[in-house]
Amino acid sequence: MTKSRLHVLVLHGPNLNLLGQRQPEIYGRMTLREINAGLREAARGREAQLKIVQSNHEGVLIDSLHETRDWAEGVLINAAGYTHTSVALRDAIIATGHPTVEVHLSNIYAREDFRKESLLAPVCIGQISGFGWRSYLLGLTALLDIISDQPGGDA
Ligand code: DQA
Repeated sequence: MTKSRLHVLVLHGPNLNLLGQRQPEIYGRMTLREINAGLREAARGREAQLKIVQSNHEGVLIDSLHETRDWAEGVLINAAGYTHTSVALRDAIIATGHPTVEVHLSNIYAREDFRKESLLAPVCIGQISGFGWRSYLLGLTALLDIISDQPGGDA
């Protein structure tokens, strides 16, 4: 990836490839492709470059996080079901050393009890949950602001 000022990995976890068809009453009717297009447009306005990965496999998500050590300054993640279970993803986020923002389409605190705990939230800068597809855009804006505020981030 060429060096521009801001580089962000956007990571989508399991089942998010089915957005638009999967429980639309909870997750909305936007497809992942549409969400990604919105993110890319927002990134262009900020001169940021995104790498977007969706995987249904925990190891692929972890490998993608490791690879960011070479090129990214931040991570936007919707780990989907792994949010509530994955110590390994949490450890990988810590290992990147990058500011990471956790997002969820649904409000995970208004749902089943098992969704109310995020193993990732304590190692992220913050979490945005419940705004549907807008959670991603809000998360990206917050992340780019945070990266830009870092010394040497966007001068
Ligand atoms: C989700 C919430 C998770 O609990 C769930 O497993 C998902 C999607 C969300 O974006 O609302 O797959 O991360």
